[in-house]
Amino acid sequence: MSEEKGTAIGAESQASREGYASVPVDGKSAKDEEKEVRGSLLREHAEQEFASELEELGKLDKKQRPPNWRLSPQAVVTYLLGGKLESGFEVSPKYIGDRRIIEIAVATLTTDRALLLIGVPGTAKSWVSEHLAAAVSGDSTLLIQGTAGTSEESIRYGWNYARLLADGPSMAALVFSPLMRAMQDGKIARVEELTRIPADVQDSLITVLSEKTLPIPELNSEVQATKGFSVIATANDRDKGVNELSSALKRRFNTVVLPLPKTVEEEVEIVRQRVETLGRALELPAEPPALEEVRRIVTIFRELRSGVTVDGKTKIKSPTATLSTAEAISVVNSGMAIAAHFGDGTLSAADVASGLIGAVIKDPVQDKVVWKEYLETVVKERDGWKDLYRACREGS
Ligand SMILES: Nc1ncnc2c1ncn2[C@@H]1O[C@H](COP(=O)(O)OP(=O)(O)OP(=O)(O)O)[C@@H](O)[C@H]1O
Ligand SMILES: [Mg+2]
Repeated sequence: MSEEKGTAIGAESQASREGYASVPVDGKSAKDEEKEVRGSLLREHAEQEFASELEELGKLDKKQRPPNWRLSPQAVVTYLLGGKLESGFEVSPKYIGDRRIIEIAVATLTTDRALLLIGVPGTAKSWVSEHLAAAVSGDSTLLIQGTAGTSEESIRYGWNYARLLADGPSMAALVFSPLMRAMQDGKIARVEELTRIPADVQDSLITVLSEKTLPIPELNSEVQATKGFSVIATANDRDKGVNELSSALKRRFNTVVLPLPKTVEEEVEIVRQRVETLGRALELPAEPPALEEVRRIVTIFRELRSGVTVDGKTKIKSPTATLSTAEAISVVNSGMAIAAHFGDGTLSAADVASGLIGAVIKDPVQDKVVWKEYLETVVKERDGWKDLYRACREGS
């Protein structure tokens, strides 16, 4: 009996995740019901949002799938990078950038080594990790969020104390961590911000990654990983307050560096695409932004980031803020919200100015000087940027 309850605990969140799909209300089919609930979610998991793409890829996928994988490695790469299937079905690109990077990441997951995605903030580490887990395991929710307060229990397992006190240690009293569930089900576990986790807690991953087992000494037992299990961790190499990754742990990961977008065009395309999908998801009553407006924001971000203008002629100072692609996306996105609700529905310079200033000026003293100088020497002088110059001056 205790065994039975044990599975119930492990399966609990799974059931509540899927539970809504199986209870028909008002004579609606379970599927309609599910659609309705999902339609009201602020953000769907990748495997929900792109369910039709994953299904179509699975149907046409004739290549060999590693044990417990939903798709073949080639199909996983197509899911991430997008493409046209032989049936004519269009798979949207999730990651924009070097194909090789994604191939290496996917190939790593077919081996017994875990995958570590590193890079500066906003280079789509979490995004890629979520989509990889969705494509490989059909489940991106087995997630451990790394923080300074992440404890060993949240990586290994915890206890249901009421049950522990009542019945003593048993499988039924065990609370499975996402990692443990992934091992049991042969899925991918995700560890976000690995280097924020204190070093000694990080090390509790070592046995799991090298021996593929998680000992439960209290029960004189263990959970052995099923085929298909792997770990994708992300870490950023810029933020303050991060811990070193121990070298013992480092050796158990294949590291893949996600770079910043190489060209303005690439970055514009990322921002345009994300803003469009976000706008749709948030049901913003605004026109998709004009490419030119996106290009200006991206150009400003890239110039301030690199400390030189795109023509390579003028040196400028960089602000303390990181100014990642992710932030460019959010500047355009909040500009869209302003345009939609308080403007004429088309993104203009005035709509993005406040977001832009907010993104650049993180340190009220230092960054203000940098921004002002950039505004006066670069923005003001550029052809066709007068409106932006004026809007930014008014804004600051
Ligand atoms: N090359 C890219 N292709 C597609 N989307 C990208 C790319 N680079 C950034 N993005 C977008 O940027 C956003 C932020 O990415 P994400 O949150 O994954 O960054 P991160 O690397 O995890 O950052 P952090 O270090 O702050 O956690 C996502 O919405 C993602 O779509
Ligand atoms: Mg992240």
